[in-house]
Amino acid sequence: MAQNFAAKQLETILGHGDKDRATHPDISNPNREGGRYADESGEKMKALAWMGKNDVRVVETNKPKIIEDNDAIVRVTGTTVCGSDVHIMHGVILQVEKGDILGHEFCGVVEAVGPGVTTLSPGQRVVNSFVVSCGKCRYCKNKLTTACENTNASTLHEQLYGSRMGGIFGYSHFTGGYAGGQAEYVRVPLADNNLMKLPDSVPDEKGLFLSDIMPTSYHSVYYTGVQKGDCVAVWGLGPIGLMACYWALKKGAKRVIGIDKDWRVDYAKSKLEGLEVIDYANLDSGKTVPATIHEMVPGGVDVAIDATGGEYAKGFVHKVELIIGAEQDTSEMINECIMSTRKFGAVGIIGDYVGFTNHFNVGSLMERGVRLIGCGQAPVHKYWEELLEMVEDGSADPTIALTHRFELEDIAKAYHLQEKREAGLVKCFVQTRFSSPRAEGTPELTHL
Ligand SMILES: NC(=O)c1ccc[n+]([C@@H]2O[C@H](COP(=O)([O-])OP(=O)(O)OC[C@H]3O[C@@H](n4cnc5c(N)ncnc54)[C@H](O)[C@@H]3O)[C@@H](O)[C@H]2O)c1
Ligand SMILES: [Zn+2]
Ligand SMILES: [Zn+2]
Repeated sequence: MAQNFAAKQLETILGHGDKDRATHPDISNPNREGGRYADESGEKMKALAWMGKNDVRVVETNKPKIIEDNDAIVRVTGTTVCGSDVHIMHGVILQVEKGDILGHEFCGVVEAVGPGVTTLSPGQRVVNSFVVSCGKCRYCKNKLTTACENTNASTLHEQLYGSRMGGIFGYSHFTGGYAGGQAEYVRVPLADNNLMKLPDSVPDEKGLFLSDIMPTSYHSVYYTGVQKGDCVAVWGLGPIGLMACYWALKKGAKRVIGIDKDWRVDYAKSKLEGLEVIDYANLDSGKTVPATIHEMVPGGVDVAIDATGGEYAKGFVHKVELIIGAEQDTSEMINECIMSTRKFGAVGIIGDYVGFTNHFNVGSLMERGVRLIGCGQAPVHKYWEELLEMVEDGSADPTIALTHRFELEDIAKAYHLQEKREAGLVKCFVQTRFSSPRAEGTPELTHL
């Protein structure tokens, strides 16, 4: 929290970079600034807001209105909770403010469009990209949309990282301060670019996952360069890691090894034929994950993917260093990835890391020529059309990760379940009062 307070002060001193942005950022709740972004009808809606560290709540706020010509208002029919939302609930993401509406994954029906929207009209079913992309800058033109130069006004972001990444829905003022879609309605800026039409053959329970988990996991496999016949290891078997294993197997990897603990290991194995697993919390005493991998694949894997997250320290030293602020992220899983990879192999990081880390094994990386290519925030637009086609023709199915269905009213409780990784929860579908009946074969509603 102290970090968040300092971040806010610093942004004020540095000056917020909101001039010449492609859209109006920092409208993280229609009620901000005395309700000037609220719909004139006065209609209220439910939304999940960040209220403080470890405190997220469903609140009543105003329905958003169209602010700019390129905006659309979407009536949300499905949303979910991401592993990234747990990071923001914990307050490890900078520049989150009390009252910010969260949620970067949603699908729904277009309710209204501004006069500048050309490809969408009311009634159209859509899914969002978690990224807010301008569509015009050099990165967006190359579909590397998370690197958009025109949708994020955080100067602190630029100061910390060297240059500013693009906006993300419902993910703090560090990434644009856009209100998220864990709500009954959401404003979508630059709507032609940031919404994709969903055909009737694709139910919300599948279409929703085109906003993040499918493109993100696909990107991790594509970007690290997994080839047919490769041996691949994936740290973390949440929705992102599970789906990364799925794509690696689909790409023809010879062996895919998933690393996690407890029931998540069993769940992944039950969903993916041929997946080998390591339960990192259940190794023989003194045995490490890299040593286990070298035993399984002499010389190491061709590609390692980290789908965990920098806040999940394992050892005492990193736990202490994180608590006292001596680092923002642990290096343990990245070090394990590097050491488990063959010489001149590749390591990709798709799990979220936010700042500086200690005890990084730069020696193993350099000496052994391992390419730490990084994965970045996934550029959704690069993949989502191709992935929609796969969902449509049945060649890809994101519901392997879908384990639960909740109501928006219960979403704060779902955050805590997700945080504790309890009750067999991998990925949930969160319905609203506007949702269609449950699609056949998807989980029944659970009341929390
Ligand atoms: N880059 C992107 O575009 C992008 C998009 C979405 C999510 N993410 C990030 O990806 C990560 C995974 O997301 P998720 O929704 O699957 O989250 P999740 O929290 O459900 O899954 C993370 C998994 O990592 C496991 N884990 C923790 N420490 C581990 C260790 N030492 N070794 C092996 N496994 C370990 C946990 O048990 C858990 O199952 C998160 O950090 C999330 O923020 C990134
Ligand atoms: Zn996400
Ligand atoms: Zn752009």
